[in-house]
Amino acid sequence: MNSEASSGKMKKEGDKKMTILITGGAGFIGSNFVLEWVAETNEPVINLDALTYAGNLENLKTLENNSQHIFVKGDIRDRSLVAELLTTHKPRAIINFAAESHVDRSIHGPDEFIQTNIIGTFNLLECVRAYVDKLPGAERDNFRFLHVSTDEVYGSLDADAPAFSETNPYEPNSPYSASKASSDHLVRAYHHTYGLPVLTTNCSNNYGPFQFPEKLIPLIIHNALAHKPLPIYGDGLQIRDWLYVSDHCSAIRRVLQDGRSGEVYNIGGLNEKANIDIVHTLCDLLDVLRPLPGNAEITSYRDLITHVKDRPGHDRRYAIDAAKIEKDLGWQPAETFETGIRKTVEWYLDHQDWVANVTSGKYRNWVEKHYG
Ligand code: NAD
Ligand code: TYD
Repeated sequence: MNSEASSGKMKKEGDKKMTILITGGAGFIGSNFVLEWVAETNEPVINLDALTYAGNLENLKTLENNSQHIFVKGDIRDRSLVAELLTTHKPRAIINFAAESHVDRSIHGPDEFIQTNIIGTFNLLECVRAYVDKLPGAERDNFRFLHVSTDEVYGSLDADAPAFSETNPYEPNSPYSASKASSDHLVRAYHHTYGLPVLTTNCSNNYGPFQFPEKLIPLIIHNALAHKPLPIYGDGLQIRDWLYVSDHCSAIRRVLQDGRSGEVYNIGGLNEKANIDIVHTLCDLLDVLRPLPGNAEITSYRDLITHVKDRPGHDRRYAIDAAKIEKDLGWQPAETFETGIRKTVEWYLDHQDWVANVTSGKYRNWVEKHYG
């Protein structure tokens, strides 16, 4: 990966080629997207990320010497930086992954969610509006602002209600989902008012490599391996619709390529599961892949399951109807839940050093040292 300071050669080549700018590309989904983008295309990617606790350059360590990836440490709220990146690199598209993404953190401290998810998206839209206005005709027509959002904006479904389609009303229930809903509305308004060429995707819960161990699946794997309690909020019968992260990334590439400006696409993999079933599956996989030692005080990782106080305002069920993206863009997920969850557990078992770094704060020290 190039730092901005050492990217002179890249910029010259980049001027001739097409380039994309992504935000939040050091986070879970963004880093998976960047790795796949570099593996599958020759197109340079500028990666703007503030490296909050959730951003981790170690995710992109395999790109260290790859000039196709240019990392810029910065905040999407920094208007002059975003404007400068647009002028310098002239991207054909922006994909906005940057966000505060954890519901529980939004309950404890919503400020950052309002700042990044709402003000940050607003700032990007303003910068893009000024940038696109100056583009020549064809470049303007082809430019896209792709906003990555969540199914949580639609609120909570009753057990027998049909899955969320793109026309469901927005009924966000947490500060996180409200901030994402707000950003989606701004994106929509910039299309309708200013003709900005936008695309919005609303995806279900992701899982896979590089997910910070504060979210359910990596947290359970992490705690299980440490023989710590596996916390289940409330009765554990809340339902999420799980999608393997690389399937989300492939859907975003499809939408970027062929999505119609102004349209919204729901993304999901038809994998509705209750939390308790997810945890049982993880425990059963670990029992096979990392058997407990004979002298352990427990006989299965399931013995560590502990019901704890429920999350305030906990949404009961999410489910995505992905018919539109399948029909209009021909997208389908490649992984089943069974293949994806096994890959995920294996990845965490093989990358315990990564987990140790993000959980011990060692990585944070490195960032401070590196960037001062
Ligand atoms: P994440 O928390 O793992 O990563 C977010 C990234 O954004 C981090 O690298 C962080 O450093 C960066 N960031 C945060 N604030 C920033 C700022 N002000 N300026 C620049 N960078 C900043 O999140 P994720 O799980 O990878 O989610 C990415 C996007 O996908 C989010 O918009 C999220 O709402 C959406 N989404 C996530 C899921 C999921 O299950 N994780 C599902 C659907 C949609
Ligand atoms: P999470 O991974 O935080 O994603 P989201 O809240 O965005 O859906 O949580 C997934 C589900 O797992 C959610 O219903 C909350 C539940 N959960 C637990 O039961 N225990 C936990 O420790 C965590 C982090 C989540």
